[in-house]
Amino acid sequence: MSNFPLPNNSADLTGDVAFVTGASSGLGRRFAQTLAAAGATVVATARRKDRLDELVADIKGAGGNAVAIEMDATNTDSIFAAYQAAVDAVGTPTILVNNAGIPDAQYVTKMPVELIDAVFDTNLRAPFILAAEFARRLIAEKRGGRIVNISSMGAFRYNGNGAALYSITKAGIVRMTEALSAEWAKFNINVNGIAPGMFASEMMDGMLERQGDLAAATPRKRIAQPPQMDSTLLFLVSPASEAVTGTIVKIDDGQGAK
Ligand SMILES: NC(=O)c1ccc[n+]([C@@H]2O[C@H](COP(=O)([O-])OP(=O)(O)OC[C@H]3O[C@@H](n4cnc5c(N)ncnc54)[C@H](OP(=O)(O)O)[C@@H]3O)[C@@H](O)[C@H]2O)c1
Repeated sequence: MSNFPLPNNSADLTGDVAFVTGASSGLGRRFAQTLAAAGATVVATARRKDRLDELVADIKGAGGNAVAIEMDATNTDSIFAAYQAAVDAVGTPTILVNNAGIPDAQYVTKMPVELIDAVFDTNLRAPFILAAEFARRLIAEKRGGRIVNISSMGAFRYNGNGAALYSITKAGIVRMTEALSAEWAKFNINVNGIAPGMFASEMMDGMLERQGDLAAATPRKRIAQPPQMDSTLLFLVSPASEAVTGTIVKIDDGQGAK
């Protein structure tokens, strides 16, 4: 055994480069801020560049380091171009947060094929491509890294209210996390995931509009707030959790406990 500090809880990300998808709003914005506050240089990606520029200014104003790079997760060329732009700007990412995602908000029989493709591409295909690109480069450089995939409690349960494909893709993210962790453990690339319950975000605003006061049915009568995920994210990317891989941490504020 090596000598570990007591307690071994370091979350210092100085020297890390964190590529965060869906950083223009909601959970991803907070993930980017949290990683920057812990010392990582953040690559903030999404389609809405104006929002990313605003986030980067916030991070820099707080003493952190970040760059904004436009990326459309449904477009293969855009994904690879964004990744290369990140490498060119700040170096090879050592942390990847696969956060960008969209709801289907529609019953299966009413889904046009364009919506089916968009949900698959954004929620499952892009995270897989990015994870592969992330690992390919780190393996070539003989360096380890951390991936955090954002799944959902919807991966484990579905109430029939128009989110079947969302649930399917988020279950795919769980299995992707487990499978990639097995393939890349020997390269010191840890792959873990977070399955959030209901958290405040633009996506959640849409759900509240469609489905009414969802907080009323929860044990704590509330929608959780993104900062309540900070510690789990930091745990999964920090030096102290080196032996943790292939795990999904459920953060649902007790909403799933029946
Ligand atoms: N909020 C919750 O309660 C909750 C619960 C479980 C899981 N989640 C998951 O958490 C993640 C973040 O969701 P959120 O709640 O924070 O929703 P949000 O506020 O709607 O954020 C979604 C993010 O994804 C990005 N995005 C969507 N389509 C994209 C595309 N084609 N290319 C690139 N980026 C794209 C959006 O950026 P642009 O529009 O600027 O591209 C935005 O930054 C998602 O994976 C979601 O499934 C959320």
